[in-house]
Amino acid sequence: MFSKVAAVAVLGTLGTSAYAQQPIVIKFSHVVAQDTPKGLAAEFFAKRAGELTKGKVKVEVYANSTLYKDKEEVEALQVGAVQMLAPSLAKFGPLGAKEFEVFDLPYIFDDYKDLHAVTQGKVGQELMAKLEPRGIKGLAFWDNGFKVFSANNPMKKPEDLKGKKFRIQSSKVLEEQMRTLGALPQALAFSEVYQALQTGVVDGQENPYSNIYTQKMHEVQSHITETNHGYLGYAVIVNKKFWDGLPADVRGQLEQAMKEATDYANSIAKKKNDEDKKAIIASGKTQVYVPTAAERLAFKKALVPVHKKMESRIGADIIKQVYDATG
Ligand code: LMR
Repeated sequence: MFSKVAAVAVLGTLGTSAYAQQPIVIKFSHVVAQDTPKGLAAEFFAKRAGELTKGKVKVEVYANSTLYKDKEEVEALQVGAVQMLAPSLAKFGPLGAKEFEVFDLPYIFDDYKDLHAVTQGKVGQELMAKLEPRGIKGLAFWDNGFKVFSANNPMKKPEDLKGKKFRIQSSKVLEEQMRTLGALPQALAFSEVYQALQTGVVDGQENPYSNIYTQKMHEVQSHITETNHGYLGYAVIVNKKFWDGLPADVRGQLEQAMKEATDYANSIAKKKNDEDKKAIIASGKTQVYVPTAAERLAFKKALVPVHKKMESRIGADIIKQVYDATG
Protein backbone atom coordinates (compact mmCIF):
# COMPACT_ATOMS: atom_id res chain seq x y z
CA MET A 1 0.00 0.00 0.00
CA PHE A 2 1.20 3.41 -0.91
CA SER A 3 1.29 5.18 2.43
CA LYS A 4 1.21 8.89 3.10
CA VAL A 5 4.73 8.71 4.52
CA ALA A 6 5.99 6.99 1.36
CA ALA A 7 4.31 9.66 -0.74
CA VAL A 8 6.07 12.35 1.22
CA ALA A 9 9.37 10.48 0.86
CA VAL A 10 8.93 10.18 -2.91
CA LEU A 11 8.03 13.81 -3.17
CA GLY A 12 11.01 14.66 -1.01
CA THR A 13 13.37 12.77 -3.33
CA LEU A 14 11.88 14.41 -6.39
CA GLY A 15 12.20 17.73 -4.64
CA THR A 16 15.90 17.22 -3.98
CA SER A 17 16.80 16.16 -7.51
CA ALA A 18 14.70 18.97 -8.98
CA TYR A 19 16.45 21.34 -6.58
CA ALA A 20 19.88 20.16 -7.76
CA GLN A 21 19.09 21.46 -11.23
CA GLN A 22 17.71 24.76 -10.05
CA PRO A 23 19.91 27.76 -10.75
CA ILE A 24 21.42 29.63 -7.83
CA VAL A 25 19.30 32.77 -7.53
CA ILE A 26 20.88 36.10 -6.66
CA LYS A 27 18.32 38.74 -5.78
CA PHE A 28 19.83 42.15 -6.51
CA SER A 29 17.74 44.96 -5.06
CA HIS A 30 18.27 48.66 -5.71
CA VAL A 31 16.37 51.90 -5.41
CA VAL A 32 16.96 53.79 -8.66
CA ALA A 33 15.35 53.57 -12.10
CA GLN A 34 16.56 51.03 -14.63
CA ASP A 35 17.81 53.70 -17.02
CA THR A 36 20.50 55.03 -14.67
CA PRO A 37 24.19 54.16 -14.36
CA LYS A 38 23.44 51.75 -11.48
CA GLY A 39 20.27 50.32 -13.05
CA LEU A 40 21.99 49.60 -16.36
CA ALA A 41 25.07 48.12 -14.70
CA ALA A 42 22.91 45.81 -12.58
CA GLU A 43 21.20 44.52 -15.74
CA PHE A 44 24.57 44.12 -17.42
CA PHE A 45 25.86 42.09 -14.48
CA ALA A 46 22.75 39.89 -14.50
CA LYS A 47 23.21 39.13 -18.19
CA ARG A 48 26.93 38.37 -17.93
CA ALA A 49 26.48 36.29 -14.78
CA GLY A 50 23.97 34.10 -16.63
CA GLU A 51 26.25 33.76 -19.64
CA LEU A 52 29.51 33.10 -17.80
CA THR A 53 28.00 30.54 -15.42
CA LYS A 54 26.08 28.94 -18.32
CA GLY A 55 22.81 29.40 -16.51
CA LYS A 56 23.99 28.08 -13.16
CA VAL A 57 23.28 31.50 -11.67
CA LYS A 58 20.19 33.58 -12.24
CA VAL A 59 20.43 37.19 -11.13
CA GLU A 60 17.04 38.79 -10.52
CA VAL A 61 17.28 42.57 -10.50
CA TYR A 62 14.63 44.52 -8.59
CA ALA A 63 14.91 48.22 -9.50
CA ASN A 64 13.20 51.35 -8.18
CA SER A 65 12.70 50.18 -4.57
CA THR A 66 10.19 47.58 -5.81
CA LEU A 67 11.49 45.03 -3.33
CA TYR A 68 12.95 47.12 -0.52
CA LYS A 69 13.57 50.77 0.33
CA ASP A 70 16.98 52.08 1.45
CA LYS A 71 17.08 51.02 5.07
CA GLU A 72 15.14 47.79 4.58
CA GLU A 73 17.38 46.55 1.79
CA VAL A 74 20.46 46.57 4.02
CA GLU A 75 18.60 44.63 6.69
CA ALA A 76 17.38 42.22 4.00
CA LEU A 77 20.98 41.62 2.88
CA GLN A 78 22.11 40.89 6.41
CA VAL A 79 19.40 38.31 7.00
CA GLY A 80 19.90 36.80 3.55
CA ALA A 81 16.50 37.79 2.05
CA VAL A 82 18.47 39.34 -0.82
CA GLN A 83 22.03 38.53 -1.83
CA MET A 84 23.29 41.66 -3.59
CA LEU A 85 22.86 45.43 -3.30
CA ALA A 86 24.61 48.56 -4.50
CA PRO A 87 23.74 51.23 -1.94
CA SER A 88 25.06 54.74 -2.21
CA LEU A 89 28.27 55.24 -0.22
CA ALA A 90 26.31 57.69 1.94
CA LYS A 91 24.24 54.83 3.32
CA PHE A 92 26.90 52.75 5.07
CA GLY A 93 26.82 54.64 8.39
CA PRO A 94 23.98 52.49 9.78
CA LEU A 95 26.14 49.44 8.97
CA GLY A 96 28.75 50.77 11.34
CA ALA A 97 31.09 51.71 8.48
CA LYS A 98 31.19 55.44 9.14
CA GLU A 99 34.44 55.73 7.21
CA PHE A 100 32.44 55.48 3.98
CA GLU A 101 31.06 58.94 4.71
CA VAL A 102 34.43 60.30 3.60
CA PHE A 103 32.91 60.17 0.10
CA ASP A 104 30.22 62.62 1.21
CA LEU A 105 32.65 65.37 2.21
CA PRO A 106 31.90 68.37 0.02
CA TYR A 107 34.51 69.17 -2.62
CA ILE A 108 36.80 66.29 -1.62
CA PHE A 109 37.00 65.17 -5.26
CA ASP A 110 37.51 67.60 -8.11
CA ASP A 111 36.58 65.10 -10.80
CA TYR A 112 36.26 61.41 -11.67
CA LYS A 113 40.04 61.12 -11.88
CA ASP A 114 40.35 62.06 -8.20
CA LEU A 115 37.54 59.71 -7.34
CA HIS A 116 39.09 56.74 -9.14
CA ALA A 117 42.40 57.31 -7.37
CA VAL A 118 40.48 56.35 -4.23
CA THR A 119 37.89 53.80 -5.40
CA GLN A 120 40.33 51.89 -7.57
CA GLY A 121 43.29 52.14 -5.22
CA LYS A 122 44.46 51.09 -1.77
CA VAL A 123 42.02 53.29 0.15
CA GLY A 124 39.07 51.70 -1.63
CA GLN A 125 40.29 48.22 -0.74
CA GLU A 126 40.80 49.18 2.89
CA LEU A 127 37.29 50.58 3.08
CA MET A 128 35.78 47.41 1.62
CA ALA A 129 37.67 45.31 4.17
CA LYS A 130 35.88 47.17 6.97
CA LEU A 131 32.59 45.56 5.92
CA GLU A 132 33.69 41.96 6.41
CA PRO A 133 33.30 41.76 10.19
CA ARG A 134 29.69 42.83 9.59
CA GLY A 135 28.98 39.81 7.40
CA ILE A 136 29.20 41.82 4.19
CA LYS A 137 31.62 41.55 1.33
CA GLY A 138 32.31 44.53 -0.90
CA LEU A 139 32.82 43.54 -4.53
CA ALA A 140 33.22 46.79 -6.46
CA PHE A 141 32.73 50.53 -6.56
CA TRP A 142 30.34 51.75 -9.24
CA ASP A 143 30.31 55.39 -10.33
CA ASN A 144 27.37 57.68 -10.53
CA GLY A 145 28.33 61.32 -10.47
CA PHE A 146 28.61 64.71 -8.88
CA LYS A 147 25.64 66.24 -7.12
CA VAL A 148 23.80 69.43 -7.96
CA PHE A 149 21.30 71.27 -5.75
CA SER A 150 17.68 71.57 -6.83
CA ALA A 151 15.01 73.76 -5.21
CA ASN A 152 12.23 76.17 -6.05
CA ASN A 153 14.34 79.30 -5.87
CA PRO A 154 17.48 80.43 -7.69
CA MET A 155 20.69 79.44 -5.84
CA LYS A 156 23.68 81.53 -6.84
CA LYS A 157 25.31 81.80 -3.44
CA PRO A 158 25.40 79.63 -0.31
CA GLU A 159 23.02 82.01 1.51
CA ASP A 160 20.28 81.16 -1.00
CA LEU A 161 19.86 77.77 0.70
CA LYS A 162 19.48 79.25 4.17
CA GLY A 163 16.33 78.26 6.05
CA LYS A 164 15.25 75.83 3.30
CA LYS A 165 14.41 72.20 4.00
CA PHE A 166 16.64 69.86 2.03
CA ARG A 167 16.22 66.13 1.66
CA ILE A 168 19.45 64.25 2.28
CA GLN A 169 20.52 60.62 2.27
CA SER A 170 21.04 59.24 5.77
CA SER A 171 24.61 60.46 6.29
CA LYS A 172 25.88 62.54 9.19
CA VAL A 173 28.28 64.31 6.85
CA LEU A 174 25.44 65.38 4.59
CA GLU A 175 23.49 66.51 7.63
CA GLU A 176 26.43 68.68 8.68
CA GLN A 177 26.88 69.94 5.13
CA MET A 178 23.32 71.29 5.06
CA ARG A 179 23.55 72.76 8.56
CA THR A 180 26.77 74.52 7.59
CA LEU A 181 24.78 76.22 4.83
CA GLY A 182 22.06 77.18 7.31
CA ALA A 183 19.62 74.80 5.62
CA LEU A 184 17.47 72.21 7.40
CA PRO A 185 18.43 68.64 6.51
CA GLN A 186 15.81 65.94 6.40
CA ALA A 187 16.85 62.33 5.77
CA LEU A 188 14.32 60.51 3.60
CA ALA A 189 14.37 57.26 1.65
CA PHE A 190 15.05 57.77 -2.05
CA SER A 191 11.63 56.39 -2.97
CA GLU A 192 9.98 59.20 -1.00
CA VAL A 193 11.85 62.13 -2.52
CA TYR A 194 9.64 62.95 -5.48
CA GLN A 195 6.51 63.11 -3.37
CA ALA A 196 8.23 65.08 -0.62
CA LEU A 197 9.28 67.68 -3.19
CA GLN A 198 5.90 67.71 -4.86
CA THR A 199 3.96 68.23 -1.65
CA GLY A 200 6.43 70.71 -0.18
CA VAL A 201 7.50 68.46 2.72
CA VAL A 202 10.99 69.57 1.63
CA ASP A 203 12.05 72.50 -0.54
CA GLY A 204 15.00 70.94 -2.28
CA GLN A 205 17.45 68.09 -2.57
CA GLU A 206 20.83 67.10 -3.99
CA ASN A 207 21.60 64.37 -6.54
CA PRO A 208 23.40 63.74 -9.81
CA TYR A 209 21.38 64.63 -12.92
CA SER A 210 20.64 60.97 -13.73
CA ASN A 211 18.70 60.48 -10.49
CA ILE A 212 16.88 63.80 -10.83
CA TYR A 213 15.79 63.10 -14.39
CA THR A 214 14.73 59.48 -13.98
CA GLN A 215 12.68 60.25 -10.85
CA LYS A 216 11.15 63.32 -12.60
CA MET A 217 12.28 65.54 -9.72
CA HIS A 218 12.93 68.33 -12.22
CA GLU A 219 9.17 68.46 -12.87
CA VAL A 220 8.61 69.63 -9.30
CA GLN A 221 11.72 71.81 -8.88
CA SER A 222 12.06 75.13 -10.70
CA HIS A 223 15.82 75.58 -10.22
CA ILE A 224 19.02 73.57 -10.35
CA THR A 225 22.48 74.91 -9.58
CA GLU A 226 25.34 72.87 -10.93
CA THR A 227 27.55 73.08 -7.86
CA ASN A 228 29.04 69.59 -8.32
CA HIS A 229 29.74 69.99 -4.61
CA GLY A 230 29.83 66.33 -3.68
CA TYR A 231 29.99 62.84 -5.05
CA LEU A 232 27.33 60.12 -5.14
CA GLY A 233 28.32 56.59 -6.09
CA TYR A 234 27.98 53.01 -4.96
CA ALA A 235 29.58 49.96 -3.42
CA VAL A 236 28.28 46.64 -4.71
CA ILE A 237 27.94 44.37 -1.70
CA VAL A 238 26.94 40.77 -1.05
CA ASN A 239 26.02 38.69 1.93
CA LYS A 240 29.45 37.24 2.83
CA LYS A 241 28.18 33.88 4.00
CA PHE A 242 26.29 33.40 0.75
CA TRP A 243 29.28 34.49 -1.35
CA ASP A 244 31.81 32.33 0.48
CA GLY A 245 29.43 29.37 0.24
CA LEU A 246 29.29 29.46 -3.58
CA PRO A 247 31.17 26.76 -5.52
CA ALA A 248 34.62 28.20 -6.27
CA ASP A 249 34.22 28.01 -10.07
CA VAL A 250 30.88 29.80 -9.95
CA ARG A 251 32.30 32.49 -7.66
CA GLY A 252 35.18 33.03 -10.09
CA GLN A 253 32.75 33.43 -13.00
CA LEU A 254 30.69 35.90 -10.98
CA GLU A 255 33.83 37.86 -10.12
CA GLN A 256 34.55 38.10 -13.83
CA ALA A 257 30.97 39.25 -14.53
CA MET A 258 31.34 41.86 -11.79
CA LYS A 259 34.62 43.10 -13.23
CA GLU A 260 33.00 43.56 -16.63
CA ALA A 261 29.93 45.22 -15.10
CA THR A 262 32.16 47.61 -13.17
CA ASP A 263 34.06 48.64 -16.30
CA TYR A 264 30.72 49.14 -18.00
CA ALA A 265 29.21 51.13 -15.10
CA ASN A 266 32.19 53.40 -14.89
CA SER A 267 32.29 53.95 -18.63
CA ILE A 268 28.64 55.07 -18.89
CA ALA A 269 28.14 57.07 -15.67
CA LYS A 270 29.39 60.45 -16.84
CA LYS A 271 27.79 60.10 -20.26
CA LYS A 272 24.44 59.23 -18.72
CA ASN A 273 24.55 62.23 -16.39
CA ASP A 274 25.50 64.54 -19.27
CA GLU A 275 22.63 63.21 -21.37
CA ASP A 276 20.14 63.55 -18.52
CA LYS A 277 21.26 67.13 -17.87
CA LYS A 278 20.47 67.91 -21.52
CA ALA A 279 17.10 66.21 -21.22
CA ILE A 280 16.26 68.26 -18.11
CA ILE A 281 17.14 71.49 -19.92
CA ALA A 282 15.17 70.39 -23.00
CA SER A 283 12.09 69.71 -20.85
CA GLY A 284 11.95 73.43 -20.06
CA LYS A 285 10.63 72.67 -16.57
CA THR A 286 13.74 73.63 -14.61
CA GLN A 287 16.29 76.36 -15.03
CA VAL A 288 19.78 74.90 -14.85
CA TYR A 289 22.32 77.41 -13.63
CA VAL A 290 26.07 76.85 -13.96
CA PRO A 291 27.86 79.01 -11.36
CA THR A 292 30.73 81.27 -12.36
CA ALA A 293 34.19 80.41 -11.04
CA ALA A 294 33.77 83.01 -8.27
CA GLU A 295 30.34 81.66 -7.28
CA ARG A 296 31.70 78.12 -7.22
CA LEU A 297 34.53 79.26 -5.00
CA ALA A 298 32.04 80.84 -2.58
CA PHE A 299 30.22 77.49 -2.25
CA LYS A 300 33.53 75.71 -1.78
CA LYS A 301 34.68 78.15 0.91
CA ALA A 302 31.41 77.77 2.75
CA LEU A 303 31.49 73.97 2.65
CA VAL A 304 35.10 72.92 3.11
CA PRO A 305 34.94 73.50 6.92
CA VAL A 306 32.71 70.41 7.01
CA HIS A 307 35.86 68.27 6.57
CA LYS A 308 37.29 69.43 9.89
CA LYS A 309 33.95 69.25 11.66
CA MET A 310 33.44 65.63 10.66
CA GLU A 311 36.99 64.49 11.30
CA SER A 312 36.21 62.81 14.61
CA ARG A 313 33.35 60.81 13.05
CA ILE A 314 35.03 59.66 9.86
CA GLY A 315 38.60 59.46 11.16
CA ALA A 316 41.40 61.96 10.46
CA ASP A 317 43.48 59.13 9.09
CA ILE A 318 41.09 58.10 6.32
CA ILE A 319 40.50 61.74 5.33
CA LYS A 320 44.25 62.23 5.05
CA GLN A 321 44.58 59.07 2.96
CA VAL A 322 41.99 60.45 0.54
CA TYR A 323 43.75 63.83 0.36
CA ASP A 324 47.04 62.04 -0.35
CA ALA A 325 45.51 59.79 -3.01
CA THR A 326 43.88 62.71 -4.83
CA GLY A 327 46.94 64.94 -4.70
C1 LMR B 1 19.68 58.84 -2.99
O1 LMR B 1 19.10 58.33 -2.01
O2 LMR B 1 19.51 60.02 -3.32
C2 LMR B 1 20.61 57.97 -3.81
O3 LMR B 1 21.43 57.28 -2.92
C3 LMR B 1 19.87 57.01 -4.66
C4 LMR B 1 20.83 56.13 -5.41
O4 LMR B 1 20.90 54.95 -5.11
O5 LMR B 1 21.48 56.68 -6.32
